[in-house]
Amino acid sequence: MTFSAPENYLQQRQQAQQSPAEFWQQQAANIAWSKPPTTILQQDAHGHGSWFADGELNSCDLALDVHLRNGRGEQLALIYDSPVTGQVQRFTYQQLHHEVATFAGALQNLGVGKGDRVVIYMPMIPQAAIAMLAVARLGAVHSVVFGGFSAHELAIRIDDATPKVVVSASCGIEISRVIAYKPLLDEALSLASHKVAHTVIFQRPQQLAEMITPRDIDWLSCQGAATAVDCTPVLATDPLYILYTSGTTGKPKGVVRDNGGHAVALRYSMSAIYDCQPGDVFWAASDVGWVVGHSYIVYAPLFAGCTTVLYEGKPVFTPDASAFWRVCAEHQVKILFAAPTAFRAIRKEDPEAQLQRYDLSKLKYIFMAGERLDPATFHWVQDTIGKPVIDHWWQTETGWPISANPAGLGLMGAKAGSSTVAVPGFNVAILDEAGQVITDHSQGYIALQLPLPPGCLSTIWGNHERFVDGYLRTFPGYYASGDGGYLDADNYVFVMGRTDDVINVAGHRLSTGEMEQIVAAHPAVAECCVIGIHEAIKGQQPLALVLLKNGVDIDEATLEAELVAMVRHDIGALACFKRAILVKRLPKTRSGKILRKLLRQIAAGESYTVPSTIDDPACLPEISEIMAKNQLIAP
Ligand code: COA
Ligand code: AMP
Repeated sequence: MTFSAPENYLQQRQQAQQSPAEFWQQQAANIAWSKPPTTILQQDAHGHGSWFADGELNSCDLALDVHLRNGRGEQLALIYDSPVTGQVQRFTYQQLHHEVATFAGALQNLGVGKGDRVVIYMPMIPQAAIAMLAVARLGAVHSVVFGGFSAHELAIRIDDATPKVVVSASCGIEISRVIAYKPLLDEALSLASHKVAHTVIFQRPQQLAEMITPRDIDWLSCQGAATAVDCTPVLATDPLYILYTSGTTGKPKGVVRDNGGHAVALRYSMSAIYDCQPGDVFWAASDVGWVVGHSYIVYAPLFAGCTTVLYEGKPVFTPDASAFWRVCAEHQVKILFAAPTAFRAIRKEDPEAQLQRYDLSKLKYIFMAGERLDPATFHWVQDTIGKPVIDHWWQTETGWPISANPAGLGLMGAKAGSSTVAVPGFNVAILDEAGQVITDHSQGYIALQLPLPPGCLSTIWGNHERFVDGYLRTFPGYYASGDGGYLDADNYVFVMGRTDDVINVAGHRLSTGEMEQIVAAHPAVAECCVIGIHEAIKGQQPLALVLLKNGVDIDEATLEAELVAMVRHDIGALACFKRAILVKRLPKTRSGKILRKLLRQIAAGESYTVPSTIDDPACLPEISEIMAKNQLIAP
């Protein structure tokens, strides 16, 4: 194994960099357009590209119908494995096509057509993927909201996406707890200003939902009454979906993904990055509510004619820490893709990893993303499973990996802590504060030279200015990733963490700014700051530092419990907001800006330089002492 890049990779990277239009035109030939594009790349004044503008296609056609036309109808398309309900259900391409085409008919009967939005708030059941593909079939736009989000978060997304229909299920199952989704949906619909004409509810036997007629419609009845519909062709640049992600403010950003660039990029990634061929079994152990679930549970494996696994369970406790090995062995998984946090959880429960019971001979690679893969977890997984472990870095915005060990182009030597090299099409640069390229391998802001390759976000839904301000204006000519890190002498990419106020808890991206807004709304709170601190399994957890209003009398434990309940209610349990401590002062600049980086450094146990702009340096040892007393400083 060598750290020098294989010839095949170097050639593709060079071609994608020097002649992006030519390179991606070649890749575009691998998908079935209803009208192939003649215009390949158009760039705006910032350099941001739009891809394949005059091409026409349908993403559901590429995921399903193409395979029926090519004789793949009897192959398994989707395996639903649900330890929480004790079921395994298998769909061939033919069966999945029938489910999707008839559900698309049901949505059409409810008035959904090209360009309309449909919000999908579902647990990990096949109907989530069926709903997404059905929306795509109609040329409409889906917006999947992760099932762990609260009614308040769902309402924000409903107001922003203004859907015609919301598709949901009666409940989700978290290990053995049944979580009723319908009351959350009802609350969200009453909180939202946008009025939705209909919901479609998939009733699960674990808990039936109470239906409000005529608004709520039963999935099975409306699907049963509908006839299958054909695909509606759309322009390559028409939106396929909106996926909300956390930014630095309280308001989530609706990342918009187009149809054409998305299909071309994902198809390319399946062979170049994942070394995955038609018929292979691909398992992304994520959730359809996240970008990994969109790209690698639903679209990419189906575009590539593979079998995808949709897993409703956890890496541990459903029923134990061997769940991943069971699923891989039972379904002959070739590629497993999961977040490092899942492996940290497995390691904690079963440090020796009882693998002997399972035949993992079909498993070829383990891909990881969603958060930094710490070297200890990397080594443990590699040594325990004995398969290549591939860390790869990407974001909701890009929709596919920016840097990876491109298994399909020739596997390179792995370096613990690095997501290997830039994927062809992504031109990674490390910049300093002034936007100058850093060449001495030291840390800086990771930026991507424009144009981005196909598949990346085209805008922020309803707010193009926010897209330009947030990503394109900081470093002219580049996309600002929000991550910091460095490139080593072999051009390996090391992503060290966010440079903004976004944190990553168990592979879930959360905004500390949003949590601050909620904490600040407590009547006892004068001022607060939320930062991400180290957590052994989940990587990070939020911590609130709170200043009380003068004269308020509330003990710390009561306040903490109330704040925990507020964040859980407003964002959801997935925020894992469990800690709030009282401080007397917060470190600020003379102009009043809270020095969050200093707080993060204190919590990380790192040494720090006291900036000359600080107003009250004496507060630093004081905060350090409070954090230490509360055992909040990283070991
Ligand atoms: N619906 C409702 N509630 C949900 C939910 C959902 N879809 N997903 C999570 N929650 C709740 C959980 O029940 C839990 O609630 P609790 O505080 O009442 O116990 C809370 O949100 C936190 O959930 P989670 O982060 O899953 O923690 P956990 O302790 O249950 O499990 C791990 C820990 C490590 C096993 C789990 O976080 C995990 O598998 N992470 C991998 C994440 C991942 O794949 N991310 C995708 C990025 S590629
Ligand atoms: P999300 O948009 O939810 O996928 O989160 C994207 C963020 O997760 C990135 O900006 C990174 O901070 C982090 N991330 C994802 N993958 C990696 C990785 N392989 N290494 C380091 N950080 C990662």
